[in-house]
Amino acid sequence: MISNDPACPGGGLIVREKQPLNLESPFELLDDLLTPNHLFYVRNHFPVPQIDIRTYELAITGAVRNPCKIAYEELRGMPFETRVATLECAGNGRTFLAPRAEGVQWQSGAVGTAEWSGVPLAALLDRAGLQEQATEIVFEGADKGVPKEQPAPPGEIIYARSIPLNKASDVLIAYAMNGEDLSSQHGYPLRAVVPGRYGMASVKWLSAIHVVTGPFQGYFQTTDYAYWNENGTGNPERTPLGEMFLKSQIARPKIDEIIAANSYYRVMGAAWNADDVDRVEFSDDDGVTWREAQLIDPSVPGVWRRWQFDWQVPSNPGARILRSRARDTRGNVQPDEHDKRYGSYVIHHVLPVRVTIGPGGTTRAVSASGD
Ligand code: MTE
Repeated sequence: MISNDPACPGGGLIVREKQPLNLESPFELLDDLLTPNHLFYVRNHFPVPQIDIRTYELAITGAVRNPCKIAYEELRGMPFETRVATLECAGNGRTFLAPRAEGVQWQSGAVGTAEWSGVPLAALLDRAGLQEQATEIVFEGADKGVPKEQPAPPGEIIYARSIPLNKASDVLIAYAMNGEDLSSQHGYPLRAVVPGRYGMASVKWLSAIHVVTGPFQGYFQTTDYAYWNENGTGNPERTPLGEMFLKSQIARPKIDEIIAANSYYRVMGAAWNADDVDRVEFSDDDGVTWREAQLIDPSVPGVWRRWQFDWQVPSNPGARILRSRARDTRGNVQPDEHDKRYGSYVIHHVLPVRVTIGPGGTTRAVSASGD
């Protein structure tokens, strides 16, 4: 279902769940590097919290020498940075799993790229003064509720997630997204933006930054957004998901599109991982043969690279499976199958896009200049 109601915060987005609100981006609209705010996916675990900006303060607590509270206006007056980052929900692509997996049924649109503005986390940590024993930074949101996945604690909990201290230098405490103040759905007044990591780390409605001296064991760190790491000892350990795995997706054509036989079609997509995608290939025969696609954007760590392929559509009608496959500079390549250890998360294998070639289909002409 597409929501076209302008009163609904998800206008233009696909409603995957109403309570809590979970909205998917129509990935086939991929166009510019940056996803427009009104088309950026929304992933909420609990109802959006009501925050009174007049009394709102961000607390910095735990293993710091000077615990402090910073009001919104004060933070807005601090030196800021702007950084582009891709956020992908770890459950993006869940509809491609068979048998069907529990959880929000995301197709390909729980991913987007925005330009975020805010205060570097490092500046706030400097101000609070880290104690030597500090190892992790826990971001706490203002939202709370009863989680769904078992085993769940008996009552309400807040949304919280940590990052290791050595990842703190990349993080922004953001107040703006693509030049606009954050909307309530995307975390107003402040959110963490953790480039290169699955979206669960980028905590919205940030109420506290809590510095800890050992592994954070919260629900969204160890039960949800975690997996059993078979470490070879016969005693697997629950391990939090972290960096985004290498992935590419086809935006156009979209699944079930009908395409005119014998035409030219500019296939469009995006590929990302935590740092260095350097190649994308395209297949129109279900992965039997592959041809090099053209990367559009430069390589920037934690930012997707759009790609295109000018496809001469075959003349024989019928169903076809299209696929795209990314590689990175370290020789990693997208796998053919989902790694079951990750359950209903980390769906980064080569995904099928079924289309039909036939009369009356769409064309997406390659321009005469070839650009
Ligand atoms: N932060 C809070 N406080 N509560 C949440 O439910 N969801 C996380 C993360 N931050 C969440 C949160 C998840 S799972 C994702 S994928 C991203 O927010 C999505 O960010 P977006 O809704 O701005 O796209």
